Amino acid sequence: MLAREPQEENVADQAKAELKFNDKSLELPVVVGTEGERGIDIGKLRAQTGMVSLDPAYMNTASTKSAITFLDGERGILRYRGIPIEELAEKSTFVEVAYLLIYGHLPSKQELSKFSEALTRHSMLHEDMKRFYDGYPGTAHPMAILSAMVLSLSSFYPQALDVKNHEEQEATIARLVSKMRTIAAFSYKKSIGQPFVYPRNNLSYCANFLNMMFSVPAEPYDLDEEIVKVLNLLLILHADHEQNCSTSTVRQVGSSQANLFASVAAGICALWGPLHGGANEEVLSMLEAIRADGGGPKKFVELAKTKDSGFRLMGFGHRVYKNYDPRAKIIKVAADKVMKKMKQPDPLLDIAKTLEEAALNDSYFVERKLYPNVDFYSGIIYRALGIPTNMFTVMFAIGRTPGWIAHWKEMTEDPTTKIFRPRQIYTGSALTHYVPLDQRA
Ligand code: CMC
Repeated sequence: MLAREPQEENVADQAKAELKFNDKSLELPVVVGTEGERGIDIGKLRAQTGMVSLDPAYMNTASTKSAITFLDGERGILRYRGIPIEELAEKSTFVEVAYLLIYGHLPSKQELSKFSEALTRHSMLHEDMKRFYDGYPGTAHPMAILSAMVLSLSSFYPQALDVKNHEEQEATIARLVSKMRTIAAFSYKKSIGQPFVYPRNNLSYCANFLNMMFSVPAEPYDLDEEIVKVLNLLLILHADHEQNCSTSTVRQVGSSQANLFASVAAGICALWGPLHGGANEEVLSMLEAIRADGGGPKKFVELAKTKDSGFRLMGFGHRVYKNYDPRAKIIKVAADKVMKKMKQPDPLLDIAKTLEEAALNDSYFVERKLYPNVDFYSGIIYRALGIPTNMFTVMFAIGRTPGWIAHWKEMTEDPTTKIFRPRQIYTGSALTHYVPLDQRA
């Protein structure tokens, strides 16, 4: 279909695709990305042919150009602003990565300290927000609380509604990154009936979160630097993943010029689903079920292959990765390290490894290129850190926040952005007329 292969970047704008339908033919421009990815620009398709494209679940649709994250699912490559995830995981911190994603470059010392200071300054919640927690039952899922609280921030900071005001948006960004962890820790404290622990300005981002989660007024809490490091690592690995379901939701909502808090609250809801971020919680339940069953992982691999069982191997498979998820590789190594530190290693790690081996040697998974994804091993580490299962997706949300913000910002600052408004192919009744109630069959 491509009329001419683009040889190098400077001829990219000359490449065209040709679409033929009946006796008509249409030339469509081809857009080429930095890494050679090509997309056929169908922006004028309807105007010139009266037709639209149909692509349920966006299997083949790039919804935007973006300069934030590069992902090559075939080769298992992930880069934030061009930097390989492996380098960031080894050398960076979550706050630095947040800056990188949101502002497009690694911060200078001065930029980093200014950003960290802003996060420190904005860590507390308005005291009235604390009362919201009283309205939730103790059984409330923390993702429901997280989304509602993030949305509520827009009523405490109405300045955020002015989405074109650059200065206000800077403060909104700092507030959101910072308060996510406070909201998250408070929901945990609420669920276990302990008093809220306020943020402390002398602690780093991750240390502050751990302190809010696990310290109690009755005794001091010893922060373990290695645990702080592992948490940084997990948050970095979750920080962005280009146009995934929740990020696309943030962009979709933000395209109507809805404020950042509202857009991210919607993203949190999208993340909650078990096919997306909610998978990390499901993985733990699955591993627990395998342990309780005692029949071994192979039985569950067989079950996952039986379509009408409705069961899938959670933490396996990915829309984009058709290779080992590079994040899962890093998390697996980290899980081993964390287990070595523990007095009693978690038996679920061994179950997970056996399950992975069984699946990767099974033709069903091999043929479909189903590999462990980011959610497969992360829960085992969260568990080792003492984080309860129903908080796993909340942890994912804290990590993903800089990515959501970066995408919202990129979109909002792009003067060519239009409201997202897909078309459809209508398949309902043809014209029919109203029948009065007494004449209906
Ligand atoms: N277990 C068993 N079979 C699977 C699995 C799995 N986990 N994932 C995909 N398949 C099969 C699926 O049945 C289908 O088979 P067939 O071609 O015979 O109909 C084929 O593989 C392709 O699957 P799909 O559902 O069409 O692929 P998709 O791109 O629409 O879905 C996915 C991607 C991630 C939703 C899916 O792989 C899945 O449900 N995985 C389990 C949930 C999970 O771990 N989600 C986390 C994703 S990574 C982090 C994130 O995005 O938050």
